[in-house]
Amino acid sequence: MNDYCCGGSGGWQQRADVVVIGTGVAGLVAALAAHRRGRRVVVLSKAADTATFYAQGGIAVVLPRTDDSVDAHVADTLAAGGGLCDPDAVRSIVADGYAAVAELVDDGARFDEAAPGQWALTREGGHSRRRIIHAGGDATGAEVQRALDGAAARLDIRRKHVALQVLHDGAAVTGVQVLNADGLGVIHAPSVILATGGLGHLYSATTNPDGSTGDGIALAMWAGVPIGDLEFIQFHPTMLYDGHGGGRRPLITEAIRGEGAVLIDAQGNSVTAGVHPMGDLAPRDVVAAAIDARLNATGDPCVYLDARGIAEFERRFPTVTAACHAAGVDPTRQPIPVVPGAHYSCGGVVTDVHGRTDLAGLFAAGEVARTGMHGANRLASNSLLEGLVVGGRAGKAAAEHAADAGASRAVAAEPAPRVALDRPLLQRAMSRHASVVRDASGLCELAALLNTATDRGLGSRRDVEDVALTVTANVVVAAALARTESRGCHHRSDFPDPDPAFAHSLVPAAAAC
Ligand code: SIN
Repeated sequence: MNDYCCGGSGGWQQRADVVVIGTGVAGLVAALAAHRRGRRVVVLSKAADTATFYAQGGIAVVLPRTDDSVDAHVADTLAAGGGLCDPDAVRSIVADGYAAVAELVDDGARFDEAAPGQWALTREGGHSRRRIIHAGGDATGAEVQRALDGAAARLDIRRKHVALQVLHDGAAVTGVQVLNADGLGVIHAPSVILATGGLGHLYSATTNPDGSTGDGIALAMWAGVPIGDLEFIQFHPTMLYDGHGGGRRPLITEAIRGEGAVLIDAQGNSVTAGVHPMGDLAPRDVVAAAIDARLNATGDPCVYLDARGIAEFERRFPTVTAACHAAGVDPTRQPIPVVPGAHYSCGGVVTDVHGRTDLAGLFAAGEVARTGMHGANRLASNSLLEGLVVGGRAGKAAAEHAADAGASRAVAAEPAPRVALDRPLLQRAMSRHASVVRDASGLCELAALLNTATDRGLGSRRDVEDVALTVTANVVVAAALARTESRGCHHRSDFPDPDPAFAHSLVPAAAAC
């Protein structure tokens, strides 16, 4: 489908109209949208699994003929976002949610029903009503991924391909430099869509899959495209605590609290009482901070989610049940031990609501992007929604751009020299100094550590990821230092209150210590 082309500048070379980097919801929806417009699409995938696959709670969407409304969903999203959402972006994305879900159903997705023809709705933190559709109980992401993998089976998906660099001529994208088993190569293309997901592996423990290493942030930085709001890293309040090390840890979906579970400490006291009018269903930043404060006060390693009152727990939450059983916990008989865990990047590559970045031909969608939807704290289950809506729009926009741009010719450059820190060292330092609560002295320690990063060749996926993590950490630290206030999921113990002067996105500069 994609011609080999353009020899002469070293390494393998191919051509496409649109290259999509990533195979989660945003990537595959974008790829399908571009393919359906007749474009030659190549999808690059470095990893076996996606964050989409692990999503549990569901998709927040306003269904027609219910008591819900776009206005109500927008209001909840803005309230959770701590004054930093772009209201127009939120409205645009929320308003297109149902149509995007309907397309996903056309592609084969099936959601749980309360009655024949009527989707079951659950609730999560920050939502004023039940508006979250789900599948397989708490296996929504797995169903979305299954449906999209099926629909995308006809596409040209390249596994074990790692993107090294977005190539451009200063004005527009010309292709992507890629590493695969044959070595370095170039795919010449006028449109490139970053759908690389998040950055959870900046931290020692995260709900994210192995591939969430900030790759798209680094690719966009190197292409000179703005990054925004990266200080707002969302810690999910309830990641399973089993006393074992790090890496990807199981998520305990917020929908369990939506069905009545409560957070308690080791003494059986409520963790969220008196913290927020919505209690255990307060927005995620509020609940994560309340847990963090309680752990600091008690010195305990975890708090507990008491779900024993939920009828038919195992049927409704099979994924969580399996994870708990694997950790030796029976959630129907004992409270589930949980801690906050790195979960979602609210910021990212700055785009409009069609995924367009500042560089012609470069698009971003899904967690890697910052559309203005999430502000300082994402509302639960708005991520699959955004991936569906903006993924589709980005695919369409990339297809149109490719049609207008015609053939492009990239120069296959050697990858620029890059630096990286040892990954466990970086993860320990980020976990210590840039987690739920930060302060200037810890962030400056981090900045000093990042300055010790050493040259790293880009010979393997691991190298590329370590470099991307280091680049991304630099942006997070600079942004977290610059925001001398607390807002959304950015809590500064040295600046504990919001400051109206900071009610806007910051352009991260180098860390100022
Ligand atoms: C969850 O199921 O609690 C996670 C949903 C989300 O991250 O939006």
